[in-house]
Amino acid sequence: MPLTNALIKDTCSDLEQTYVDYLVDHFGDWEVWAKASQRVADREKVSEEEIPEAFRTEFKIMKVIVEMEDLGKFDWNNPALTGLFGELAQGSFYTFFGDTITKIALRLADAAGVSTLLEIGAGKANLTRIMLNQMAHMNISKPIVTTDAQPVILENIEKLRSEYPQAPLQSLLWNITAPPPEDLRAAIKPPALLYERYTLNYANVSAIKNISQVADILVLGDWFNYTGALYAYDEVFQKIGAKPFFYKDIKPLLDEYFPNQHVFDQRAIDAIKLPNITLLIAWK
Ligand SMILES: C[S@@+](CC[C@H](N)C(=O)[O-])C[C@H]1O[C@@H](n2cnc3c(N)ncnc32)[C@H](O)[C@@H]1O
Repeated sequence: MPLTNALIKDTCSDLEQTYVDYLVDHFGDWEVWAKASQRVADREKVSEEEIPEAFRTEFKIMKVIVEMEDLGKFDWNNPALTGLFGELAQGSFYTFFGDTITKIALRLADAAGVSTLLEIGAGKANLTRIMLNQMAHMNISKPIVTTDAQPVILENIEKLRSEYPQAPLQSLLWNITAPPPEDLRAAIKPPALLYERYTLNYANVSAIKNISQVADILVLGDWFNYTGALYAYDEVFQKIGAKPFFYKDIKPLLDEYFPNQHVFDQRAIDAIKLPNITLLIAWK
């Protein structure tokens, strides 16, 4: 069955309800954090208690980045920083977000008759692990091709394979700023659904054209800034490679390659004026 807005509503309206309610509750005070982040950037004293709980790990990460900047050297292996990234990945939103992305992906894949699931920027395989759990839970089995620009993905997926020996899992290298390599094209049986989280931010918008060569449906868990307003945390997080990604830049490419789009969290955007889209579905 071809994907339509009505099919998304039919298959995912309960997920929309739960996800958006969570966003509104969890990120409702985002402006308090935005203002406080300016004070952190200005080297003013800001206490943790002032920061809404949902943003405390980001606050601590931002403070470490600012301190490193003042010391004149950035160290990715700083234990405080690596510990905080671990804390972020353990946070309630991170897992819930992953659950929502993978549930949407599987429900749409099932309803639209998708043959292959494709993941980009799989990195530490946190999202892949969630996907395998969901598949087992939903009693669905579809081939998954996981990719990343870094060879470490191959090792991480190997580790995962030992935990899920039955999983139809394959891993390949792909830098999404280049067209898909031959081995990747050969591994994908169309139609394919691509799901991902926090990867496009590290690449660039041209990736959409490359992605369109192998994917028919996208479930994007990247944050697209659609107001154009940037806050101090955006500026500081750029120092660790997370470039703000503007919806106005990606929209023309989506219109060209994936002309049907559904902003999954529109209700949260309207309710709390969050400056980002957090979850977007697009299809050919
Ligand atoms: C924040 S991590 C993604 C986390 C993972 N998706 C998850 O949800 O658990 C970003 C990943 O994007 C990958 N990446 C960065 N630039 C890329 C590119 N141009 N092509 C493919 N992967 C890229 C990095 O190697 C890294 O693994």
